[in-house]
Amino acid sequence: MSAGQDPDNRAIPEHVPRELVHSRDSTMTTARIEQIKPRIGGLVHVSKEHLFDAGTVAAVREALEDRGVLVFPRMHLTDAEQLAFTDKLGTRLNYNSKAPGSGAADEKDVYAITLDKKVNSQPEYVLGTFFWHIDGVTINQPLPKATLLTARKLAPQGGQTEFASTYAAYESLPEADKRAIEGLEVIHKVEAALRPVFEELTEKDLARWRGMSEVMTHPLVWKHQSGRKSLVIGTQADRVVGVPIPHGRSLLVRLQEWAAQPDFSYRHEWQEGDLVLWDNCGCMHRVVPYDENSGRRMHRTTIMGEERVARGNG
Ligand SMILES: [Fe+2]
Repeated sequence: MSAGQDPDNRAIPEHVPRELVHSRDSTMTTARIEQIKPRIGGLVHVSKEHLFDAGTVAAVREALEDRGVLVFPRMHLTDAEQLAFTDKLGTRLNYNSKAPGSGAADEKDVYAITLDKKVNSQPEYVLGTFFWHIDGVTINQPLPKATLLTARKLAPQGGQTEFASTYAAYESLPEADKRAIEGLEVIHKVEAALRPVFEELTEKDLARWRGMSEVMTHPLVWKHQSGRKSLVIGTQADRVVGVPIPHGRSLLVRLQEWAAQPDFSYRHEWQEGDLVLWDNCGCMHRVVPYDENSGRRMHRTTIMGEERVARGNG
């Protein structure tokens, strides 16, 4: 294929990187991934019948880290199809046993995210998603590589999901700021994530939440095997090791605000049936608050991580 054309001989807009344009096979079915913003977001142009093609899967895997978030509009996947696509992309992870309250989805490895108490007996877990976070950061295992979310029922107001690139956030820091945070370690714990959700917690509640997680110490700057670096921040980040609490928390809040700036973040306005897939190792995410009686319901599947957060070494 010549530069500037896709296999169907359509002109490729200048802003679409050539390496993100893929041909499936000799029938010239194309999964094309278009940039949403320069630093984050990809819109995947593919029909549902070609979603599972090897070429599509390869293009999606390749684009995931670079784009951070990939949007597949109105794919209308069933639970079985969502699981099948998850399995094509990696190794399915069921950490539903760590995420209380669901059980409403048809398949056991699909977690239904809803505030509806008839479906989710412990909606407090979902209220924590109103705040920037990385999934699985207080579980003692490699961070989940990626998360897939499908919109089954929308809220009339709110419910948009926002993503922020923790790669772009780190890479764009002034050099002096990079030097200042290099080598810092951060304690992540569930209590920190519960603080903005509850006015006060009983000892019994605390014990229950602690039982589902571990206190984890992660480097603030994650040096990935690829050589790229990202920030490990979010609502579970409680304090910086060896730094007075107000100073450390202020730093964490400032970095979170930095990462959430418009150039590094993307807000997804859901349509029913949308599939969104994101790189959980290079993005944090949150949801715009919505009413618990809105009926909003999303189905989540998760891909197992391959890499533990390791100390950056300069
Ligand atoms: Fe999440």
